[in-house]
Amino acid sequence: MRIETLVVHAGHAPDPATGAVSPPIHLSTNFAREADGSLPHGFLYGRSENPNRLALERGLAPLEGGAVALAFASGMAATTAVFQSLAPGDHVIAPNDAYYGTAKVLREVFRPWGLASSFVNMTDPAEIERALTPRTRLIWVETPSNPTLALTDIAAVARIGRASGALIACDNTWATPLLQRPLDLGADIVMHATTKYLAGHGDVTGGALVLREDGELAARLRLIQTVGGAVPSPFDCWMVHRGIRTLAYRMRGHCDNAERVAAFLATHRAVEVVHYPGLAGDPGHGVGNRQMTRFGGMVSVQIRGGAPAALAVVSRVRLFTRATSLGGPESLIEHRASVEGPGSRTPPGLLRLSVGLEHPDDLIEDLDQALAGPG
Ligand SMILES: Cc1ncc(COP(=O)(O)O)c(C=O)c1O
Repeated sequence: MRIETLVVHAGHAPDPATGAVSPPIHLSTNFAREADGSLPHGFLYGRSENPNRLALERGLAPLEGGAVALAFASGMAATTAVFQSLAPGDHVIAPNDAYYGTAKVLREVFRPWGLASSFVNMTDPAEIERALTPRTRLIWVETPSNPTLALTDIAAVARIGRASGALIACDNTWATPLLQRPLDLGADIVMHATTKYLAGHGDVTGGALVLREDGELAARLRLIQTVGGAVPSPFDCWMVHRGIRTLAYRMRGHCDNAERVAAFLATHRAVEVVHYPGLAGDPGHGVGNRQMTRFGGMVSVQIRGGAPAALAVVSRVRLFTRATSLGGPESLIEHRASVEGPGSRTPPGLLRLSVGLEHPDDLIEDLDQALAGPG
């Protein structure tokens, strides 16, 4: 089945007990045993399994072409589970422009715990090769990266991983399986902050891992999920699963609008650089054409005049909402360096736009008046 069909149907079926087409939400934390002690439906306790979580996981795996999916309480809980599956003394290579939460957890939680990490420019595979050590167990990829939309060649990194015995995990949050399928390109694990495009409405926090194989690694991650307990609630699972049903058509709208917004910004005299791999001059355009079907709904833009000029633009928007996060129907704008705080590597004049599903002309008019200044 094609992905447009999978997002609508995967993990969904009329409820056998009632015929309900939209699935019921099972809030119960415990499940009754038969007289002989057996569990007739296989469910025991809410932390270890739940019907809504199972349905979501069954819905997620085929979207990425994976054998198994695991749902978590947030994107960071899913990321943390991958690092927890490693042993003290192991080494991880991650991108130097990874989502700042990913870099922070590696530096501030896992280094004290004994997991070594190196941060490299992943747009250059030679840098990854140089960072390899005999204890490198994992190469963490994020493409497009947050917030500079740098693209990493997943197939090239997967070749390095295979040759060195390191696993490849790819944060596919920004691309979604509609635009990019890392497992097909050789990755072992896909991570999603389902908080973003998968749920799609800015009203639920969640995360997921999808694995190429249902083997030892999946069993270890399942253990961390169910014993560690960073599991999503039944309602959150229901919300994410419901959001996924419209993913294909939402992504078309996000891509159409972001392409228009990026093209407009690229010609504006107040703009220094637009980071959007869909633009022919973008450094990631070649890799993007090879591994993505389209370029997504996120656009970053550097404003001439640095942080003060960028903050002034943010203060003047009327339709864009000044807020963090991404992937919902409404367009958002954020000055990333302010959010990331001291130590941020993000250029001070960079604004990150989550381009929503409004009419693109309205978005462009709003940005045009905000860039023009007080007049
Ligand atoms: C690329 C990427 N990965 C991971 C995360 C973390 O997800 P969550 O906030 O659900 O923990 C985010 C959040 O913005 C993100 O943009």
